[in-house]
Amino acid sequence: MSSTPAHPRRPLTAPSVRARKVAHGSDPLVMVTAYDAPGARIVDEAGVDLIHVGDSLAMVVLGYDDTLQVTTEQIAHHVGAVARAKPAALVVADLPWMSYHVSAADTVRNAASLIRAGAKAVKLEGGRKRLPMIEAIIDAEIPVMGHLGLTPQSVHAMGGFKVQGKDSRAAGLLVEDAKALAHAGCFAIVLEGVPSEVARIVTDAVDVPTIGIGAGPDCDGQVLVYHDLLGIEDRLAPKFVRRYADQKRDAVAAVASYADDVRQGRFPAPEESYHLAADVAETLGLYGSPS
Ligand code: KIV
Repeated sequence: MSSTPAHPRRPLTAPSVRARKVAHGSDPLVMVTAYDAPGARIVDEAGVDLIHVGDSLAMVVLGYDDTLQVTTEQIAHHVGAVARAKPAALVVADLPWMSYHVSAADTVRNAASLIRAGAKAVKLEGGRKRLPMIEAIIDAEIPVMGHLGLTPQSVHAMGGFKVQGKDSRAAGLLVEDAKALAHAGCFAIVLEGVPSEVARIVTDAVDVPTIGIGAGPDCDGQVLVYHDLLGIEDRLAPKFVRRYADQKRDAVAAVASYADDVRQGRFPAPEESYHLAADVAETLGLYGSPS
């Protein structure tokens, strides 16, 4: 079963996203993660601008404690599922840890494998020290989204998932990184886990949109993880998450009702079962003859 919207949306492209600065009159960008076809259909029907197949896949779908465990092949597998939903939203795939910390040739090969799987752009973490790889990917005609601030792939180097850019020196370095990424040709930059004031300075300093997560209200857009937004992941509650549903609670209650119905003999009901035609049932002696 699939529903076709009455007015299909025009697919978003990296250049159309790049033009979306709030300061120039654009609406804020909406990005949500998704990792499979049903999730992609849900967020696309809801009208988001970008779908991010993030390496958060490792934590919210595959059950790891950090994002370092997921491979390019695993991301590509999930990008394929998202792309087969044919969303109008722009599909951006994460380059996982160690997929772009290698040679330029291998970096471009890894980025290309995500594009061949169905992504229209890739995202990678880090500032000026990643410029050679960003330039190599862009040179291969693949749009790149940057990611600065709390970069989860650096969890061990940062000493944990910690808010970044909290002193004036760190804030200044963040602004310089953002300018360098924009200058290199990144079409947008995710700002994660930085003080709102710093996100505002960065947003004012670059002519490409910033997309915030835990970065306050002044970015050119916002991104949330699907499982956080819908309350499917209920173990962690970071301050920046707003839950718009409690799907974990609802799902547990629904499955418990099903289990109860099975155990009490209430499921399946006759109308949920297939039946023989009366004459066939009679031939099989399934109806008792009146005594
Ligand atoms: O992997 C991810 O989900 C992300 C977003 C939080 C931006 O990188």
